[in-house]
Amino acid sequence: MRLLGSMKVEDNKLSIGGVDVATLAKEYGTPLYIIDQEELEDKCRLFKENFSHPDLRGEVAYASKAFLTVGMAQLINKEGLSIDVVSGGELYTVHKAGFPMDRVYFHGNNKTLEELELAIRLKCGNIIIDNRHEAKILGELLEKHDYKMNVFLRVNPGISAETHDYIKTTTDDSKFGESIFQEDIYQILRDIKVQDYMNFKGLHCHIGSQIFEEESFLRAVDEMLYFYQLVKNELDIEFESINLGGGFGVYYAEGDRPIDLGPFLQRMIDYIYQGSRRRELTIRHVLIEPGRSIISNAGSTLYTVGGTKETYSGKKYIFIDGGMSDNPRPALYQAKYEAIIANKAEEAPDTLYTVAGKLCESGDVLIEDIKLPRAEAGDLLLISSTGAYTFSMFSNYNRVLRPAVALVKGGSPRLMVRRQTYEDLVSLDEELI
Ligand code: LLP
Repeated sequence: MRLLGSMKVEDNKLSIGGVDVATLAKEYGTPLYIIDQEELEDKCRLFKENFSHPDLRGEVAYASKAFLTVGMAQLINKEGLSIDVVSGGELYTVHKAGFPMDRVYFHGNNKTLEELELAIRLKCGNIIIDNRHEAKILGELLEKHDYKMNVFLRVNPGISAETHDYIKTTTDDSKFGESIFQEDIYQILRDIKVQDYMNFKGLHCHIGSQIFEEESFLRAVDEMLYFYQLVKNELDIEFESINLGGGFGVYYAEGDRPIDLGPFLQRMIDYIYQGSRRRELTIRHVLIEPGRSIISNAGSTLYTVGGTKETYSGKKYIFIDGGMSDNPRPALYQAKYEAIIANKAEEAPDTLYTVAGKLCESGDVLIEDIKLPRAEAGDLLLISSTGAYTFSMFSNYNRVLRPAVALVKGGSPRLMVRRQTYEDLVSLDEELI
């Protein structure tokens, strides 16, 4: 397994943030999500420092769907990033964290009336409108509450980026945004522009997730700027902002080649600046919304090995005390991960294993074919780069409990989220007799 962030191997043991992971297992139990605070802060700074430009205001909004807790929103705020939310639940969480609401961007293709009302009540600063229907109901609500809001319209520029089908978002039949190629797109823009309670800042696009090609991002910039020019010519509307979404791919396993983000972010923002000048546009503010690339490498999941099993056909399993409930990504997207036996960190990986979870489902396999040292009950297995879309996609399938989340830095751990209890689990259920 590649050591990420502050991971270290010493005396056959793996530590993160200066804490032996065996100590974390003792203190908080397993399965356990571990967040490496230093790695998280480094990523925030990498984005903030490099997505900046002398003539454009660069703004980085963390896509909180990747991983969100009250504490996480506070760490993001401390690093000076903005935040993107996609539901009433995420909105409420950042509000509870005391996040400045003028730096909150509210997304979603089907925000309910209740969610829009909540956004207004919590004084959310920015909404990304998904479609014409939403533009209409939001306009009515804003007028009713006499509240003016910054708005963006999500558009689909039809870029096909190379990634898993389930996380592509700008194919022509995508459910997100309004296509820039459809006939009535100008009418939708006009309708938003004339709304008194909307401050129409610009357009948004997001081309997909876990993308490794720089070209896909730059093509999206080209398409969007071209469309800005058409809008300027056709409607005489000039936008001040542009939002290009997230999607920067990360390292999970051998073969993954993430973009070298520092230089690329600088290149990307300058590319936007040059393109906008060439087309004589008035863009002064550029946003991106990275989620995975901020938190994925900072997160790991620690499990205790229960049994091991060799099947009749010779396949060797390691059984862990979690599985697709705490990480559905292998089952959903055929996602690949690396792992280490944390208490045998320097031993030769000489046995080929499949790491399977404890859920009642044959597809509950987290890693197919990985070489590890000989495993036995009580070993600690750590899967790396699980910070994004695992905790946030957790399910209580089989009524297993949601693991705790521990934050580590400088040799000391802190609890970010306590482990669910059986009492938590039944707390919403009503007795019927
Ligand atoms: N902005 C918008 C509008 C998005 O829809 C997304 C992700 C992001 C930003 C952040 O993208 P990121 O930088 O994290 O790639 N559950 C899937 C990923 C779904 C992504 C959905 N939208 C997975 O586990 O791979």
